[in-house]
Amino acid sequence: MTSATKARPVYPVNQYLEGIYTPVDDECMVGFESMTVIGELPQDLNGIYVRNGPNVRHTPNGNYHRYDGDAMLHAIQFEGGRATYRRRWVRTSCLEEEIAAGKALWGGMLDPRRQDRPDMPLKDTSNTDVVLHAGKVVTMWYMSGDPYLVDPVTLETLGQADFNGKRTTKISAHAKTDESTDDFVFFDYSRDFPYMHQGVVDKHGDLTAFTPVELPGPRMPHDMWISHRHTILHDLPLIWDEEAYRKGRVKLRFEDQWPTRFGVMPRYGAASAIRWYEFEPCYILHTINAWEDGDWLHLTGCRIHPFEDAQGNPDLQSITTIMGRHKLRARLYRWSINLATGATKEGFVDKKWNGEFPTWKNAAMGDPMRYAYCANIENEPTLNFAGLIKFDLENGASEYFSEGPGYTYSEAPFAPADNATSEDQGYVVCFVRNADQVQSEVHIIDAQNFSDGPVCKLILPCRVPEGFHATWARGDLLQA
Ligand SMILES: [Fe+2]
Repeated sequence: MTSATKARPVYPVNQYLEGIYTPVDDECMVGFESMTVIGELPQDLNGIYVRNGPNVRHTPNGNYHRYDGDAMLHAIQFEGGRATYRRRWVRTSCLEEEIAAGKALWGGMLDPRRQDRPDMPLKDTSNTDVVLHAGKVVTMWYMSGDPYLVDPVTLETLGQADFNGKRTTKISAHAKTDESTDDFVFFDYSRDFPYMHQGVVDKHGDLTAFTPVELPGPRMPHDMWISHRHTILHDLPLIWDEEAYRKGRVKLRFEDQWPTRFGVMPRYGAASAIRWYEFEPCYILHTINAWEDGDWLHLTGCRIHPFEDAQGNPDLQSITTIMGRHKLRARLYRWSINLATGATKEGFVDKKWNGEFPTWKNAAMGDPMRYAYCANIENEPTLNFAGLIKFDLENGASEYFSEGPGYTYSEAPFAPADNATSEDQGYVVCFVRNADQVQSEVHIIDAQNFSDGPVCKLILPCRVPEGFHATWARGDLLQA
């Protein structure tokens, strides 16, 4: 194990700096010989699992919230039956400023914004999401921020993605890479008219489409879909309370009389080509896949599941509490649009599991899909995942695996096996923490024998704090 350790910051007492969230204070690399291997590492698993997440670098300046930590990437590279673990901070412009100053310069989301920095009132940490595009890792922030490019092997920050000098906006978390075209499709959202944009970047980093998307007002979307032909954008009825905002407070409001609206636009289309379709009011944190089947466009995702009122009916106002207090409840759901007639339909795919942080076979994005994988978010706090679920969208079946109480899981992308010939031929890869142990583990589950649990566990000689989103970077894409 090799590491570059910095002086340990003094952490204040804070629930997000303890237990599973305790930050690590070094960057390091762990070779295969330093891991304990239980089972056999599959030879046909080649690529890199990369996970983003908050890891505060300096003693926090204010009321630290979990969402405030500096982005740190944790990656495990699989190659020829061996594995290497690495972790590094993403060198955002804000973190570079703080490193130069030797201390934190921003407070957190619960603190007043910096009045002296209208360009950066809240620290853009880039700590939320991660995808692979054109052989490089792209990190993103949920509040719409500057995307950063990172070498997927060394985790060295290469700088901001500026789309060859054409980027004029921030971008939100949950941009998508279409592996069939190498398009990187993104959206942004802000408090300023038109409140949203959609853009496309090709494999050379050129901005090939950039479209203003006019919303009725500022919104707080978190994700979108892409099919092979369309981008599908969110106008959801969970909004910022404007009066509270003017008083400097953050408060959510759910407008239960407003519909959920999805804006469907051709990927390279003009603003005039966007068509909006209405559904029952709801909030969606994370989408799964979208695909076209004749005139029908099918959209799958994790729909926030409200609590019931005294009469047993859905209490839509509880969505505000669920989101505001980060105690997620979600169910797998499908929305469908007939693009020829405008007809719509919607319904549950599964009512049983409280599943979120979905993954599926990224290489098949936009294709009809049968399998999805989610984290079980029944635990509190929400991001303390209790286990993993495999969903069969075709027959409604599901499988579950957990090592049991005391184990927590990270987001678990699907990693296709080399030369796979079926959709679920491959592995689900994730970091796992055993509460009884200081070290973290990497678990590799054969997706076709999901409920059997891991075929291989790698015990790391170090701890990996809980984080946010992860991606699977296929070995053949890295070589390309
Ligand atoms: Fe997210």
